[in-house]
Amino acid sequence: MNIMLIGGGGREHAILRSLKKNPAVETVYTLPGNGGMAQESVCTGIAATDLDAIAEFASKNPVDYAVVAPDDPLVLGCVDRLNEMGIPCFGPKANAAIIEGSKAFSKDLMKKYHIPTARYEIFTQLDAALRYLDSAPIPTVVKADGLALGKGVIIAQTREEAKQAVTEMMEGGKFGKSGTTVVIEEFLEGPEVSVLAFTDGKCVKPMVSSMDHKRAKDHDEGLNTGGMGTVAPNPYYTQTLADRCMDEIFLPTIRAMESEGRPFQGCLYFGLMLTKDGPKVIEYNCRFGDPETQVVLPLLESDLLTVMQACTNGTLESTEVKFADKHACCVITASAGYPEAYQKGYPITMTEEAAAHTYVAGAKLDGEHLVTSGGRVTGTTAIAETLADAIREAYRIADGVLFENSYRRSDIGQRALKA
Ligand code: AMP
Ligand code: GLY
Repeated sequence: MNIMLIGGGGREHAILRSLKKNPAVETVYTLPGNGGMAQESVCTGIAATDLDAIAEFASKNPVDYAVVAPDDPLVLGCVDRLNEMGIPCFGPKANAAIIEGSKAFSKDLMKKYHIPTARYEIFTQLDAALRYLDSAPIPTVVKADGLALGKGVIIAQTREEAKQAVTEMMEGGKFGKSGTTVVIEEFLEGPEVSVLAFTDGKCVKPMVSSMDHKRAKDHDEGLNTGGMGTVAPNPYYTQTLADRCMDEIFLPTIRAMESEGRPFQGCLYFGLMLTKDGPKVIEYNCRFGDPETQVVLPLLESDLLTVMQACTNGTLESTEVKFADKHACCVITASAGYPEAYQKGYPITMTEEAAAHTYVAGAKLDGEHLVTSGGRVTGTTAIAETLADAIREAYRIADGVLFENSYRRSDIGQRALKA
């Protein structure tokens, strides 16, 4: 069995390693892949958003199954395109990926189907948005409608800040077309939980919960990033809450998408906030989260390919999805300066132990040497019986990942430990 895996970050490296545990998997082609994945797959360098090149590659190579991991190719219709060529895929079609591709769509979906979320208004005219902000409760949250590389959310502490954010998005073209429509929503408070879930469009099987650490600096200070580390499971997410989320959020969302003629197959990511009024949806993503995947998949005991194919074939109900009753911690090693300007091109060395526990994200091969090429460079994951041990092990092993001007948060998992 030959698989095409679209994407080239730490998440995709984690997916690659999980897929390769199945002895039926022969070749995995990665598009584009990265310097770390190149040692474990046929790394093509084809951009994840270049649908023409992806289709051409699929037509020229023996591809039996495709896994489309990142948001942009999903929203662009990569799965639709490959399905037309007769290639079965893991991932939603474009008409379902819109659940992440348009925040206005997802907010209206939640309102129509009574799925708990922050109160909101949608604006397509700047003057109406500014007028609304004259009396909106503060703090308030301003979101660009479309994909914005995780940077389209502004938590405004003052009216002026909110107005500036809306103006930059709608008039300044800060996010291009993604920002011509904005959502302004109620500020929610409470612990955040990420729940990734497998779904075949009818049945939904949540994975072990996790906790991301989005801010760049210790104690949740500094700018928002793609994620500086994760732990799983998330201690705030009790079984009682999990049952409630299944009834009030997960199943209603899957049924809503089906009712809308947009059945969702693949991994649906629920970004939840556990407010004092109950769990509410902060965001949906149409894909695996990163770095959540780097703690969730190492805990998966069932075969990933089997589960993915069950999502594609509509047989998830009868397929076991089992997770180890253990704890995982992933620590990201980034280029100093990220998420702002940083230097690239530094050689990376890893101990043998570190290499075995580390997923590569922002690194490429320069000849035979792995060199940094992105902000988040690696994610090092350890699994243990307790959260405290998983954290200690992840940091100890990550010390074996070395490159100049590297940066790590030192408190990944501490909030979970105190929960
Ligand atoms: P996103 O880019 O959608 O992942 O949002 C980034 C972060 O903004 C989330 O992880 C939350 O911490 C925060 N956020 C988004 N929406 C809200 C909200 N309505 N209230 C409070 N915080 C929010
Ligand atoms: N870690 C958050 C995301 O993948 O969107």
